[in-house]
Amino acid sequence: MALATMHDLMIAELKDLYSAETQLVKALPKMVKGATTPSLKTAFENHLVETQEHISRLEQIFEMVGGSPKGKKCKGMEGLLEEGLEMVEEDGDDTVRDAGIIASAQRVEHYEIAAYGSTHAFATIMGHTEIAELLELTLNEEKATDALLSQIAEEEVNGAAPGMDAAEGDDSAEDAEDAEDVEDEVPAPVAKKTTRGK
Ligand SMILES: [Fe+2]
Repeated sequence: MALATMHDLMIAELKDLYSAETQLVKALPKMVKGATTPSLKTAFENHLVETQEHISRLEQIFEMVGGSPKGKKCKGMEGLLEEGLEMVEEDGDDTVRDAGIIASAQRVEHYEIAAYGSTHAFATIMGHTEIAELLELTLNEEKATDALLSQIAEEEVNGAAPGMDAAEGDDSAEDAEDAEDVEDEVPAPVAKKTTRGK
């Protein structure tokens, strides 16, 4: 597809997103199955329902602009999901694997946030208000999912994994890190003061 105008680029991006979302719909049930932490399973289940809605929003957009949403393969999402599903199949500790699955899922969300953000900007600058509004709804849901994944990782998964015995909650984990930093930095009070003064 030739990119003669910004409209062409917007259509190309929309097709790419449609491919990304349809791939994600197929992968999410495997993420639900692979996750162990109940809140993580629920987050993936809910995001599956949202993702189906994201697909229908893109179909709605193509009804407005004409043409088919199909015809482009999102290779970025293909690669991200390949890595995510590799993580799901890893042997080892369930909680460590969940931390890895979250890391993979957040890569997917960040990718989508970038793509929806750009496409939303294109629609806005061309005055496609309705399209921009639909894209913004999805963009906000992707951001909320990303934030929820961070919350689950921080509150339930990362600190509960083996090898994190010293960490009793967020503060002590940070304290432990700080203590290590101090050890590393000693003796360097002069350098510290100089940095602070700048
Ligand atoms: Fe989505």
